[in-house]
Formats: sequence, structure tokens, C-alpha cells
Amino acid sequence: METVDPKVSSSLPMPDAAAADSGATPTRPPGVVTVLGLMGQPRQTVGDEGRAALASAELILGGRRELESLQGLVFGAESGTSGHDIPTVEIGDDADDACRRAASASRDGVAVCMVVPGDPGFFGIVASLVRVIDRRYLRILPAPSSVSLAFARLALPWEDAAVVCPQGGRLSDSIRAIRLARKAAVLTSPASPPEAVGRSLVAARAAVDMVAVCSRLGHPDESVTVVGLHELATGTWDPFSVVVLVGPAGRPIAGWGGVDSSAKPLAWGLPDNAYAHRDGVVTEAEIRAVALGKLALPAAGVLWDVGAGNGSVAVEAAVLCPGITIFAIEERDADVMRITANAASFGADVRVVRGHAPEACEGLPDPDRVFVGGGGLDVLDSALARLRPGGRIVATFSALDRATGAAERLGNLTQISASRGHPSSDGSWRLVAADPVFLAWGPESHEHRVAND
Ligand SMILES: C[S@@+](CC[C@H](N)C(=O)[O-])C[C@H]1O[C@@H](n2cnc3c(N)ncnc32)[C@H](O)[C@@H]1O
Repeated sequence: METVDPKVSSSLPMPDAAAADSGATPTRPPGVVTVLGLMGQPRQTVGDEGRAALASAELILGGRRELESLQGLVFGAESGTSGHDIPTVEIGDDADDACRRAASASRDGVAVCMVVPGDPGFFGIVASLVRVIDRRYLRILPAPSSVSLAFARLALPWEDAAVVCPQGGRLSDSIRAIRLARKAAVLTSPASPPEAVGRSLVAARAAVDMVAVCSRLGHPDESVTVVGLHELATGTWDPFSVVVLVGPAGRPIAGWGGVDSSAKPLAWGLPDNAYAHRDGVVTEAEIRAVALGKLALPAAGVLWDVGAGNGSVAVEAAVLCPGITIFAIEERDADVMRITANAASFGADVRVVRGHAPEACEGLPDPDRVFVGGGGLDVLDSALARLRPGGRIVATFSALDRATGAAERLGNLTQISASRGHPSSDGSWRLVAADPVFLAWGPESHEHRVAND
């Protein structure tokens, strides 16, 4: 990465975005914005580089707590300045506004120093700064993060911890992430204070071995309080804290707790009528469920659903594995519209390609997985030719001759005969058999591979 020595920054060209925004020719070359992380008392923790940046700053922006803690070091007797001649701006709730002010001052050649908590690149101001200032004009001097300090105080390793910072009081996403983790740290705030985190976890029937509220870390009045989940929920805590949670006996914090009703269930093989379809033309729920299993979907990659029909396989794959890029290839206009509607109703990201396979697949990226729900052996051959190493194809057929042709190419064949139960008028249940479907998959044997893994 290109780096900037602040001492020679005046020789750097004006960043394009900055030049365009300023509208005027600057009288001084643009200055570097130093972002100084503070954790605890600056007198003991700020190094020479940070002190020099503060001493030469012509504008200081900072959080209220950070500006207060600079008293003495920068402003006042100890610093040798009156302090009154350094303009100071408090960063309020609108961090973007503060970043714009810093950007504008730096364009005018003003030496800017921003003082913020911990590591500015970790849930900090760097994310906003890089939107308005070329990175070459930023110098980041991090302190240990509050999370690092919290785990240090508890003498716990934390490379396996989930760290969440609930935004704008919206706790549900964070709670979901916490419940999946074995260890978690929550950066709390007035919108989501420790007690709100506690209430949500109690409501979610989370289980923990340990909870600690870590406040004012690095300051003389630092506190690390180990509590139970109930105390966390009912207490009153410093809203600017780190809450550390450790799951029961190394298990996820969800423990043996109940169902998170706000989370989408992991479900596939949904009923046929969950999808709009053309008169019974749908990959039936039972076949879909097995086909998705045989596809052994990876976390990422490319899936083609060829002859997608109403797109039910593509939609279920997209919901199960949102990291996969999914193409649904279909030639009938009405089905193309159904796929789009079905994907939208599930919030699934499916790219619909209208056209006749195999030609319609020509411009697509090579697949890691292919489901062939429609099309002949020529579709299968062209998919095989494009399949990435280690890839898998699953194809369904109703005709035996095609199915055996597919089995010869792919190596595996099974026939699925599903019978659905229906209550009859006499109170008993009758089974109604659906047409058998042949399912071929490969090219390698999944069972063989799993057994050898
Ligand atoms: C916007 S985040 C910034 C995190 C920061 N970049 C870091 O690395 O710690 C602010 C949150 O950090 C936590 N925090 C910052 N300073 C802290 C301290 N001294 N003690 C406890 N928590 C602190 C609080 O959860 C606070 O709401």
C-alpha cells in the first residue's frame, strides 16, 4: 500500500475528489488528518507521534470524553499553551459531519487531529473518513481497542469472539449473531445499553457461563463487573461499555435455549404451493428436498438452475446459501415472470436468464453446481463441459432412457417415489402416489467423498 510520510505530505498531489469539492485553489497544500486513538489516560498512553500530532494540530475534533481527557496534555499549563488558540470541535452524533469538516480543513492545508476511542479502524471513524478523504491523507495512530482491553482484563483469548456494535438501537441482528457465537463482545451505547442487551438475551433464553460489563477501561475509575444474565438485564450500567459473554461449556450462547422467532428457519423442500407455478409444473417438494441435498451447496460459488420452471430450486438454494451467485435459465416468458415473482416473495437473489439452454448459458460464469430440471442430455453435456473442478450436477428426469444416459455420465442414479397422505371421508388416510422421478447426480460420488473426508 502507498504510504504517506506526513513530513513530506506537502509534495503530494491534491486528491481528485478533494480538488473537485473545494471549488477554490487552496493557498496551502492539503494537510494530513491524524486520527489518534485514545484508550485510558492520554498522559500515560499517547506516544511521541501522537503528542507531536497534538502539539502541531491547528484543529482538533474529538468525542466529548476524549476531548475532556486531553485537558492538561494539550490544553493548559502542562502543554505550554493557553489552549484557547486551538480550535476544538466536539464530534456529536453526526460523525459524517465531523469527517466533512476535517476533510474541508485538510484541503485548506490545516493540520487536523481527530481524537477518538480505541482503534479508529475498529467500529470507529475510519469508515466514515475514507468516504470523504483520500486514504493517502490519513494517518491512523490506534490505541488498543476497548474490546482488546476488556478481554485482557478478563484474561481470556478472543480470536474466536464475535464482536457486535448494535446500530441505532436495533438489537435484533446483534442478538442473532451473539447467540450463534461461543464468545461475544458487545459495544454498547445509550441507544443499546448493557441492560437492553441483557433483556434481549433473557427473552431469547440465551445461556451463558459468564457475563462481564467492562466500563471506563483504562481510566482510574475503570470497572469490570462479572454478573449473571438476569443482573445484566435489571441493572443500570454505563452505556459506553463492553459487555463480554461466554457461552455455556464452550457451546454457543444460544445454549439449549428456545427458538428465535424473528430468525428465518432453515427450511427447504417447501410445499409446492409456496411458489407460483404453471398447472402442476413444479419440482415437487420431496424431489426438491433431495435434489438440494445432493447438490451439497457450497457457501459461495456459481449455481445454474437450467430449465428452472418456476425457479423453486433456485429460490431455495438462494435462501439457504445467500453467498452463491445463482442463475435461473428458462425459455418461457411466463415462467421467467414466475421465477422473478417467486424470488421476490422470498427475498432471494436469483438472476433470471431468458433463453434456450444450452446456448443461453454461454455467457454465464462457469458453474460449481448445476441443477438440470429441464432439457435433454445435450444440456447435461454442455453443463459437464463447463463444470468447475470439484463441481456437482443434479438432474431430474421422468423418462428412464434419459435417466440412464445421465447416470452413465454422472455416476449416480436414484428413483424417488413419493406418496402423499390425504385424509379420506371415512376418517382414514389414503396414500396418493406421485409420478416417480429419476435423479442423477455426480460426476463424483458424494457418498464416497463424504466417507473419505
Ligand atoms: C463507536 S465504538 C468505538 C470502538 C473503538 N474504536 C474501539 O476500538 O474500542 C464506541 C464504543 O466503544 C466502547 N468503548 C470505548 N471506550 C471504552 C472504554 N474506555 N471502556 C469501555 N468501553 C469503551 C463502548 O462500547 C463505546 O460505546
